[in-house]
Amino acid sequence: MSKHPSLPSSLPAMEARTAVNSAVDCDVIAVFQDSGKKPIAPTGAYAAAVQKFRKNEAFSARVGAAQFVRFGGTGLAESLALVGLGVVTELTEEKARVAGGNVWQKLCAEKVRTAAIHIDTLSAARGAREAHLRTARAFAEGLVLNAYQFNKHRSKASLGDTTYFGPTKLVFIAHDKAFRQEFEAELAKVAAMGEAVNVTRDWSNEPSNYGTPEHFANEAKRLAREYGLKCRVLTEADAKREKMGLFLGVGQGSEQEGRIVVVEYDPKASSKSSKKSSSGSAKNVVLVGKGVTFDSGGISIKPSMRMEEMKHDMTGAATVMGAVLLAAAWKIPNRVIGIMAMTENMPDGNAIQPGNILTARNGKTVEVINTDAEGRLVLGDALDFAQDMKPDALIDIATLTGAVSIALGKQCCAVLGNDESLIDAVRRAGEQNGEKIWQLPLYDEYFDDLKSDTADMKNSANNSYGGTIRGAIFLKQFIRKGTQWAHLDIAATSTEMGHLSYLPKKGASGLYVRTLIQFAADF
Ligand code: BES
Ligand code: MN
Ligand code: ZN
Repeated sequence: MSKHPSLPSSLPAMEARTAVNSAVDCDVIAVFQDSGKKPIAPTGAYAAAVQKFRKNEAFSARVGAAQFVRFGGTGLAESLALVGLGVVTELTEEKARVAGGNVWQKLCAEKVRTAAIHIDTLSAARGAREAHLRTARAFAEGLVLNAYQFNKHRSKASLGDTTYFGPTKLVFIAHDKAFRQEFEAELAKVAAMGEAVNVTRDWSNEPSNYGTPEHFANEAKRLAREYGLKCRVLTEADAKREKMGLFLGVGQGSEQEGRIVVVEYDPKASSKSSKKSSSGSAKNVVLVGKGVTFDSGGISIKPSMRMEEMKHDMTGAATVMGAVLLAAAWKIPNRVIGIMAMTENMPDGNAIQPGNILTARNGKTVEVINTDAEGRLVLGDALDFAQDMKPDALIDIATLTGAVSIALGKQCCAVLGNDESLIDAVRRAGEQNGEKIWQLPLYDEYFDDLKSDTADMKNSANNSYGGTIRGAIFLKQFIRKGTQWAHLDIAATSTEMGHLSYLPKKGASGLYVRTLIQFAADF
């Protein structure tokens, strides 16, 4: 399908060395500020180069500031990129990530192909080895998370015959041998993370004429084979046997057949060479993703303005796919099962109509007031199905409500659920990765708005108050006693997150893959 299989893959080759061993286009050096916010002049090998640069340029060294200069004859590379990390004592991992993102942008703007990242300069307070490692890792994440383009549907002409798609090689320089070795292991994990996140972005960005439920089911099978995962696909006939009336109701107006895709990472299966590895203690984390490949709204059709963005309405499923791949790549100690509920919401002669009553897999009946509140229908059945797998933690992720952008804007996603310790753990995992998550309340009284005169509940109310909470309280009707459950509403953060330096300017963000797997690894 790819128009240009010859385009280079987005991630650059990366390695860690104790010294530059071959010529590179550019050296990347970090500069800190003192408490008065003035740049601290670097010492040692970089001092001369930076001094020469600073003679004619003012460089503030505030976080994310990046400047570039071309010069020769310093003994270093052709050119130098300086990046600011702010005040030494105020450094955080997120600031390092932001700075890494800014460096990537600078390298792209200057068409740099190979760069040496001098990671010794990323920490003014050496000695704190652990902190230095985390800073260096976050900086690498900032670079890698930016390395993404969605060019597969563009012709060569529209790309302007360019042969430049970003840096192809990054060499990370750490002079200390032992540190280099530790960092190299982190770098491998960062690269695997970049690949998983880019799968999520590729899925999310795929237009719905290519990205059908069947297409994603096939992609899931292909990726599962590549990563050594189990994969099972339920067709609509299977879903009928499973009595998934809500899931099937959403898809009945579409020409495309829906699919429920189940992928599983099992730590025991992936380490069967060492049979003695601890069994039984591994926790079972089940992730459920909304996979509406296109959301027209159905008979309650959406306005045409920006309707094209609804190709991204399967980003929850895409995030689940990326997360399970990352669990496998990182070989985390817990089991992760991903359930992706893929279907298309379209209006035709067979489509569900407002007022119709559907019967869910768990036996409850739902009056469909608004066919555009389809995500909660799809997830209701998927969550019930998921609980047959005996999760120790159940997390769903979905582009569920436009209301979440009204409530929280574009800086964080919402979390709601029935277990405070689970919610705290998810938020902490997000915090560690610069992925912001804010909790909204889920009082049972909110269900009053969803009481129906003709069925057990309705899928929407006649005003839009507390839309995100209403979506979640609907989902809660499908959570069984004793299940620890959290719901992430990513409708605002799934796309157009270019205000963060380390995320693509346009299209899918790939956010929350890291959070889900950090959570699953630490659980
Ligand atoms: N997929 C949409 C939510 C959405 C909106 C995602 C904007 C990304 C950007 C969802 O299916 C939907 O249509 N929700 C309705 C719910 C309402 C009818 C109760 C909404 O948010 O308006
Ligand atoms: Mn909708
Ligand atoms: Zn939707």
